[in-house]
Amino acid sequence: MLKYKPKVKTLPGPRSNTYLRKVKKYNLGWNHPYPFVHSGKGKGSFFEDLDKNVFLDFASQIASNPLGYNHPALIKVVKQFKNQSPVKYAGQDFTVQEHVDMIEEVLSIAPKGMNKIFLCNSGGEAVENAIKTAIRKQKGMQRAVSFRRAFHGRTLGALSNTNSSQVQKKHYPTFPVHRLPYDTRAIAFLEDMIKREAHPKDIGYVIMEGVQGEGGYNVPSKKLMKGIRRITKSRGIPLILDEVQSGMGRTGKWWAHQHFNINPDIMSSAKALQVGATLTSKKYMHEPGSISSTWGGGHRLDLLMGATIIREIKKKNLLNNITMQGEYLRKRLDEVSGVLNVRGLGLMCAFDLSSTKKRDDLVLELMKHGVVTLGCSDKGIRLIPPYTVSGEEIDMFIEALEHSLGNCNKKGFKHTGLICQYGYCARDHS
Ligand SMILES: Cc1ncc(COP(=O)(O)O)c(C=O)c1O
Repeated sequence: MLKYKPKVKTLPGPRSNTYLRKVKKYNLGWNHPYPFVHSGKGKGSFFEDLDKNVFLDFASQIASNPLGYNHPALIKVVKQFKNQSPVKYAGQDFTVQEHVDMIEEVLSIAPKGMNKIFLCNSGGEAVENAIKTAIRKQKGMQRAVSFRRAFHGRTLGALSNTNSSQVQKKHYPTFPVHRLPYDTRAIAFLEDMIKREAHPKDIGYVIMEGVQGEGGYNVPSKKLMKGIRRITKSRGIPLILDEVQSGMGRTGKWWAHQHFNINPDIMSSAKALQVGATLTSKKYMHEPGSISSTWGGGHRLDLLMGATIIREIKKKNLLNNITMQGEYLRKRLDEVSGVLNVRGLGLMCAFDLSSTKKRDDLVLELMKHGVVTLGCSDKGIRLIPPYTVSGEEIDMFIEALEHSLGNCNKKGFKHTGLICQYGYCARDHS
């Protein structure tokens, strides 16, 4: 029996709005936040905001909260640090046990052959260091290769490979990056590029997501993944798999690329891991001092959280639940009229609406019914519930979806009121 049910009185409620107004006034990273403020209360897939609104969370903090709210194993971790300060150390130079525990835990699930790891603070940093690792080996990089609609982060190196929306890139300098379509045409394009234009040694790396995230939750074909791996391997070009969003079990395997039976040379992870990580093999080892970061490997709480999440996924066989519930979610979505192009792997799931406006209206309408989702690509909605989600919660989501879609389809439908100030869906969803 579920203790919580979605319940929304006002959005944003008065207490949340006090904080949101200040965020809008002062936050340099203003990005139209959701119209509520978290209270810290909740359980599993549900959370409460400061105004006691209750939400069913099918966005999981953009795939970074894999076990939901107030998971007992994670509460235990938080309590462990209650009488200790600092909790954060300059971990690359001053070693803490949690750094080593996390290294061992990540390596226990790492793709074959990966035995070197650099822990840092974010996904962007993990990608940045993956790129640096590749370039250091290739030496004479003249260009890199990434994919259309890719999202790899916002730091300048990572951003060069991002091809998601202009607002993220305009006026910033970029590396020379050659862009391939995220489908099987890419194989011939890359072969042609090597034949006519670029010596393989001049190509610093090829970077791709395991499943495209912000670009639309696009699942690549086995042919594309195998083709790119074959060319990069035979030409000695490092292949970076960015698993920041698609990794850590989200697709029902530890890493999305494992669905396609390939192995990257370098990989980035973050989000569900709670810290950033760049993984590779001995072959790509740097000389000391070439990559580092003050806090990297030193945020004891985050490291122990990440290691506990991995252990919990193993202990409770959550990869099975992810696969099973992902299939159930897509089956139920296929039955809903007006829902187009249902796709995904495991609990990395999306569908399209007929237009961007319809999508934006629906995300907001769902929120008014206490269901949190996220947009992706031009008219997609991504669904990323916690790994512990139940069939009952999926049914609850589908019921809210049908009801909200019905409302949005009514003639003259329009959102009004304070909620529109947060303009939610016009924002950039990474
Ligand atoms: C595939 C991918 N790479 C990199 C990043 C950047 O991660 P962060 O926002 O932690 O810097 C993201 C973030 O959404 C992502 O989805």
